[in-house]
Amino acid sequence: MGYGLLKGKRGIISGAIDENSIAWKIAQRAKDEGAIFTLTNAPIAMRMGEINKLAEECNAEIIPADATSVEDIENLFSRSVEILGGKLDFVLHSIGMSPNVRKGKEYGDLNYEWYKQSVDISAMSFHKFMQVAEKQDAINEWGSIVALTYMAAQRTFSFYSDMADAKAMLESIARSYGYRYGKLKNVRVNTVSQSPTKTRAGGGIGGFGNFFEFAEKMAPLGNATADDCADYVVTLFSDLTRKVTMQNLYHDGGFSMTGISAEVLEMIKPAE
Ligand SMILES: NC(=O)c1ccc[n+]([C@@H]2O[C@H](COP(=O)([O-])OP(=O)(O)OC[C@H]3O[C@@H](n4cnc5c(N)ncnc54)[C@H](O)[C@@H]3O)[C@@H](O)[C@H]2O)c1
Repeated sequence: MGYGLLKGKRGIISGAIDENSIAWKIAQRAKDEGAIFTLTNAPIAMRMGEINKLAEECNAEIIPADATSVEDIENLFSRSVEILGGKLDFVLHSIGMSPNVRKGKEYGDLNYEWYKQSVDISAMSFHKFMQVAEKQDAINEWGSIVALTYMAAQRTFSFYSDMADAKAMLESIARSYGYRYGKLKNVRVNTVSQSPTKTRAGGGIGGFGNFFEFAEKMAPLGNATADDCADYVVTLFSDLTRKVTMQNLYHDGGFSMTGISAEVLEMIKPAE
């Protein structure tokens, strides 16, 4: 049962590919809170067909869009406003992909064409979303835009390779566009830095399983799940957080502020 936090609000939710996707949980939660929205993903992701189940459950239309294509994004925003019957109040960017990570390329052996793709898909697309939205004037005053990120933007995690650079850029775009959109339209822009979460994208990272357990043992509250993330993001879409903007908000059970936990210390036995 929701609290009606998003009653009357319209939005776009990207990045739901299967029921493990963080965006999938956010869509379900936004529906519970009374929002109406469109769903979008890369045309290639549509082939899996899973998203149709979510669309049916949420009574939402799907608008395919490759996040690297400005033309697709223009269509996404203009169609969404048309379908939903008015300007938007929230947008979720939940898109990330690195061919280098997928193919196990180390940071000292990156394929630069793939590096460009990682940045284009995972970071520049966020700018494209907002530039298109601004040009179309598609977002209402006090609207809210959220992108999902990871703490490898601030600290090195060896397995995160070029995605770390993409996330650093994503977070910078949130600040730069957050300033601009705030001045122009009182629209707020934030990133949510989420715990490791068992999804397709998460599972594609080498050593993810071990790291998930490590983070679980470090965070005093344990890892935040995709459902927890959905709860948090819904508050950021709501009118309860109207003065929060240009922030990178950690949603990680306290992991980012923990030096070392008793559990992890216990695991590391000094040599006799
Ligand atoms: N899973 C984690 O551990 C974790 C932690 C922190 C942040 N995140 C971030 O959360 C976001 C969502 O990832 P997830 O973990 O739910 O995994 P996911 O695999 O379910 O979602 C990633 C989505 O990106 C979409 N995508 C990839 N290329 C695209 C393109 N060219 N155009 C449009 N969409 C495209 C995929 O189809 C997929 O739906 C990502 O930004 C990810 O980096 C994930």
